[in-house]
Amino acid sequence: MIDVLIERGDFLASLEGLLGEAHGGSGRLVFLGGEAGVGKTTLAAALINAADAQVVRRGSCDNVTMAEALGPLVDALPEVAEMLDGEAAVSRLRLFRHVRDMLSEPPTLLVLEDVQWADEATLEVLRFMGRRLGGTRLMILATFRSEEVGSDHPLTVVLGDLAALPGVILAEIPSTSRRCSQPAPSTCRRPCVTRCLRACPGSRGRGGKSWTRRPCSVGASK
Ligand SMILES: Nc1ncnc2c1ncn2[C@@H]1O[C@H](COP(=O)(O)OP(=O)(O)OP(=O)(O)O)[C@@H](O)[C@H]1O
Ligand SMILES: [Mg+2]
Repeated sequence: MIDVLIERGDFLASLEGLLGEAHGGSGRLVFLGGEAGVGKTTLAAALINAADAQVVRRGSCDNVTMAEALGPLVDALPEVAEMLDGEAAVSRLRLFRHVRDMLSEPPTLLVLEDVQWADEATLEVLRFMGRRLGGTRLMILATFRSEEVGSDHPLTVVLGDLAALPGVILAEIPSTSRRCSQPAPSTCRRPCVTRCLRACPGSRGRGGKSWTRRPCSVGASK
């Protein structure tokens, strides 16, 4: 956890608000995109820190050609590994339902990092959960590198399918490559990141992507 979260107060407040809604019984699935190094993991860590009284589970996707099925979910929910070992006896639907039950009680924050590299089964879980958020006390925060998710990327299909559903939010952290015109303050450890965060606070998603079917609601200017 970094000492100072620079110029992300609005994003963090929005995410905390969504977490509160989720824990009140209106589950949320938040896809948080942004370019490499823009601060997705840092923001997720800040949210986890703010949610320290809740159950937090974390999983990460890896940039490998043969990603293990449900690997990030097993990271987050080791219980899933036992079910996979007995896979012959457990249908995918039963497994997904079990995952949903495990994540719904008690109030839970599930952070899945770098889902641009997610295996197909993990994307299916996100699709399944995105359609069944109602009545859960779960917030899923799924981060992804937006520049790696083109129109033919599997994640784009999932985002397109889910974007219009209640409880599903698409958001993008402003790029470090745009509107970086202000000098970095002296506290900056990553000058480029800091300059852009200062220049683009509360910026909306890039738009124009086929899956951006409704306005981003995280990090909206206040
Ligand atoms: N809001 C911020 N305030 C201060 N420093 C930040 C902030 N956001 C990011 N940084 C710095 O930038 C570095 C990269 O951030 P981070 O790892 O969160 O990026 P990322 O978007 O998750 O990158 P990747 O796509 O590689 O996963 C961090 O180590 C941190 O030092
Ligand atoms: Mg990251």
